[in-house]
Amino acid sequence: MASSAPIGVFDSGLGGISVARQLRKSLPHEQIIYFGDSANAPYGIKPPEEVKKLSFAIVEHFMQLNVKAIVIACNTATSAAVNDLRAHYSIPIVGMEPALKLACDLGKGKPQRVIVAATELTLREQKFANLLNRFSQNNTIFSQPCPDLVRIVEQGNLNNRNIVFDALHKYFDEYDLESIDSVVLGCTHFVFYRDYFREFLPAHTNIVDGNEGTINHLRKILEERGQLAEDSQEGSITLTNSDLSERMQNLAKSLCK
Ligand code: DGL
Repeated sequence: MASSAPIGVFDSGLGGISVARQLRKSLPHEQIIYFGDSANAPYGIKPPEEVKKLSFAIVEHFMQLNVKAIVIACNTATSAAVNDLRAHYSIPIVGMEPALKLACDLGKGKPQRVIVAATELTLREQKFANLLNRFSQNNTIFSQPCPDLVRIVEQGNLNNRNIVFDALHKYFDEYDLESIDSVVLGCTHFVFYRDYFREFLPAHTNIVDGNEGTINHLRKILEERGQLAEDSQEGSITLTNSDLSERMQNLAKSLCK
């Protein structure tokens, strides 16, 4: 596969644009085709089998476009489908999982108290259970589903402070936030809330996401395969979505800035 081929990036909807933005920044010569499945969002409250089926259809679509690699910019679709997708396709498929390791490592050996905010599906699946097994012996981990934070983005209400803060209070008021070392944004939609979380959380609480780590991982894989785009190639991003409305197109564009 030529190094000039595009990279396919997908999510249940608009959340993965936060990952595509990081990809643009870190690998500016790559051509990115983004697919948001907003017509079927949210994935996080669906049965895993359904999410797997939707993910396979998107990857099949990317294969028709001759992509050289795929980023599943969705923790939920990764939980439900990454193993089966990798077994089925031979191109590199990079998935995502809540950046719990990053959060625990910030403690430099000191036990950490961490809230992982993600979708219900991500928090229920085996992949996350394995992650918890690795880190819960030495740290205290709380799992917090936040489905409204996905809906708010998809409905175009991210700039509505009242709606956002109502949701943050709903999900996080039950915690003694002063005692929390880190909050992991374990869903790509939540990364758009970083500034809100900064305002909402105590100053000492870290806000951690896996976007940069995911793109570093992709870079390494492409490097190893000699498939990084040449510096002479002009990078680009094409935003596509299963919801063809103008509203969705504009929303996607505004989040990509
Ligand atoms: N953005 C997604 C994730 O990273 C899922 C959101 C959803 O559709 O529920 O998990």
